[in-house]
Amino acid sequence: MVNMTVQNMEHIISEATQDFGACETIQDLEQAKARYLGKSGLLTEQLKGLGKLSAEERPAAGAAINVVKQGVEEALRQRREAILHAEQARQLESESIDVTMPARNHGKGGLHPVTMTLNRLEQIFHSIGFAVAEGPEIETDFYNFTALNIPEDHPARAMHDTFYIDDKHVLRTHTSPVQVHYMQNALKDESGPPLKIIAPGRVYRVDSDATHSPMFHQVEGLWVDEDISFANLKGVVQDFLQRFFEREDLEVRFRPSFFPFTEPSAEMDMSWNGGWLEIGGCGMVHPEVFRHVGIDSEKYRGFAFGLGVERLTMLRYGVNDLRLFFNNDMRFLQQFG
Ligand code: PHE
Repeated sequence: MVNMTVQNMEHIISEATQDFGACETIQDLEQAKARYLGKSGLLTEQLKGLGKLSAEERPAAGAAINVVKQGVEEALRQRREAILHAEQARQLESESIDVTMPARNHGKGGLHPVTMTLNRLEQIFHSIGFAVAEGPEIETDFYNFTALNIPEDHPARAMHDTFYIDDKHVLRTHTSPVQVHYMQNALKDESGPPLKIIAPGRVYRVDSDATHSPMFHQVEGLWVDEDISFANLKGVVQDFLQRFFEREDLEVRFRPSFFPFTEPSAEMDMSWNGGWLEIGGCGMVHPEVFRHVGIDSEKYRGFAFGLGVERLTMLRYGVNDLRLFFNNDMRFLQQFG
């Protein structure tokens, strides 16, 4: 049954080598392999036949089959390598990479229009001598209301539809609490008054439509010194707006109004296309605010104002819906690149 002569052995190896050599793909090669080493392959059959041999014949026959098996496996390995090599070479040829080709463009990032306004107004106010101050967006009741002369249960609190974090903490409804922080700190480290700051940043109110967003930006202004007047306020705001909008003929007018933390108070309007547009609130710092932070209101006075940053941005770029700023629509944002 088992007939492993030396010629026979060599014959099988050379036959397999030839068989494998005719294969051009790995799949073909796998099929050819099965003819020798598969479940009913030539060599497997030989191995099965060993059991029928006598104990004396078996070791020599077994060893002989093993030699053939190794020879076939070696032929298989070589052919597999050659096929993979050829495939790789073909691939390299067809998929050649042009390293001189420009990289795919990921697009240049750009600044958000509101950020552009913030940068611009910081630069302008800086040139008029204002430092930039910051405060927390989560405020205590004291800083957001009480210190600004808006006591508990005061109807003025209804002016602000407030997001409460808990009983004592709110998302700040305006940037005015930064006034309080800044004045307290200035007294503590004896850096002022006089003091002259703007405080730009995010504020939050329960409000949402084409002209209101629950999150928006304000820039607070505060100038405290011994002889600050409404005239200084008007000069600063008008100077700022003229430079911001690049319109030397731009005018500012005040309309009497009410804020608990300023007295007197006013709404600020600016001239725009033959009419007037409201752009924020302002006034002279209320003595109660000075009292809360510990500044002598007999000696010092100051003005404060608050401007809407989105409002300035909409006017500067002709945007008619505030919500566009926060929809993250690239078609909108890319126009400011
Ligand atoms: N904090 C006021 C508001 O949010 C604006 C303001 C600021 C008014 C400073 C007067 C002085 O409406």
